[in-house]
Amino acid sequence: MTTNHWNSALYDSKHRFVSDFGEDMVTILAPQVGERILDVGCGTGHLTAKINSLGADTLGVDHAASMVEQARHNYPHLSFEVANGETMRFDQPFDAVFSNAALHWMKNAPAVVESIWHALKPGGRMVIEMGGKTNVQIIWTGLCDALVAAGYPRPTDSPWYFPSIGEYAGLLENQGFQVGYALHFKRPTPFEGEDGMRNWMAMFTNNILCDLSPAEQDAIISDVEDRLRPELYQDGRWVGDYVRLRVIAYRGQA
Ligand code: BEZ
Repeated sequence: MTTNHWNSALYDSKHRFVSDFGEDMVTILAPQVGERILDVGCGTGHLTAKINSLGADTLGVDHAASMVEQARHNYPHLSFEVANGETMRFDQPFDAVFSNAALHWMKNAPAVVESIWHALKPGGRMVIEMGGKTNVQIIWTGLCDALVAAGYPRPTDSPWYFPSIGEYAGLLENQGFQVGYALHFKRPTPFEGEDGMRNWMAMFTNNILCDLSPAEQDAIISDVEDRLRPELYQDGRWVGDYVRLRVIAYRGQA
């Protein structure tokens, strides 16, 4: 499968809800003045900046160069780097690793968990939210059905990793983390405007649609809208069937 193309302008203009919802996670992270905090999958940098504004020393990393470029443009006084969460290593360890709505894009989850482990000081904490098991299942089914109806093969695998609590806690414990908190919950998420579903698909499913011509993509997206409208268009707006997994885990002192 092709990797997603990250359109940072579309992300900042129409998907600001991602970082708005993530502010709750910054509260749970509770950054302390002077702590070194790594934000994995920082996107265009809004939550890194929020964490930094509370007195922490931050580094935001993202695999997409376009996102890092936009983050540097948005917050020129802060540090951002391009890094792959599955392979990243750092010279100086961090007090905490934070991530919001990003880890589900990194399909080699054991490698990500290992990277986070190496990034933390002994006693450090990992505070993350990602898509949990069954996240965007209605949208994904609608997209697969629309592709099949148009004569394309049904995708064999989704571009995302959405684990259950048990699965993810198992990965963390295998790595040596102590899991202090885990919550799996439905969080219906409104998309912005009449074109909310169309914009969401353009932003987040372009790795599936990129081999199609613009006209073919448009036809698929319109068919997906028709399929999803009865379930996901409510009171004049699109609402994504988001399910979240929140976890706090600690790297032991040893
Ligand atoms: C999410 O945040 O759950 C998500 C975003 C884009 C694609 C899939 C899931």
